[in-house]
Amino acid sequence: MRIVAPSMLSADFGHLDRDTRMVDRSAAEWVHIDVMDGVFVPNISFGFPVLKAIRRATAKCLDVHLMIVEPERYVARFAEAGADIVTFHYEAVSDVRACIGLIRGAGARAGVSIKPATPAEALREVLPLVDLVLVMSVEPGFGGQSFIPGSLDKIRALRAMIREQGLGTIVEVDGGISARNAREVFDAGADALVAGSAVFGAEDPETEIARILAV
Ligand code: DX5
Ligand code: ZN
Repeated sequence: MRIVAPSMLSADFGHLDRDTRMVDRSAAEWVHIDVMDGVFVPNISFGFPVLKAIRRATAKCLDVHLMIVEPERYVARFAEAGADIVTFHYEAVSDVRACIGLIRGAGARAGVSIKPATPAEALREVLPLVDLVLVMSVEPGFGGQSFIPGSLDKIRALRAMIREQGLGTIVEVDGGISARNAREVFDAGADALVAGSAVFGAEDPETEIARILAV
């Protein structure tokens, strides 16, 4: 499986509808949406009204990445606002199973994400319970950072655990991805790549999406 998920964090918010429709036309299957609360990460992005505006402009899979504390409080509302996949941070919850249950109960697919300092091993027992794992290949909080090379070993380790357990869990990677490194990240075992600045900073974003997929 090869999926590219352009991150709307790098879109032009003065032209959100235009940028979402560009992704809708493109070869990208998912639209990545970064929600930040200023507490879990040192930055604030956007919430429900923006998610709903994006939902109105595309029928594609909305892949919502919650970088918030106490995600249990909000996951059902994100599903109701149009998220197809709701991913929360492993580091932000005390009860991973409960949070997954709330997401599934609201009718969305559930994902769990780990920050660069959290080892792959932390997810061994969680893998059978989720649809997706999201490996952060930068410190969450900002677009435009450089890919942390050690993420490749983490992706390989997760891919091996998924294979050993005979699971279909999707591996998504987020941060510092471009057409320059997409090949090695896919080769390490990623199914889905998030790309923000590489897509929206390109002269022709739609062509850039196709380039990342074709590496
Ligand atoms: C960072 C976000 C990413 C970000 C990626 O905290 O989770 O999704 O938008 O941006 P780039 O692709 O520019 O690293
Ligand atoms: Zn993200």
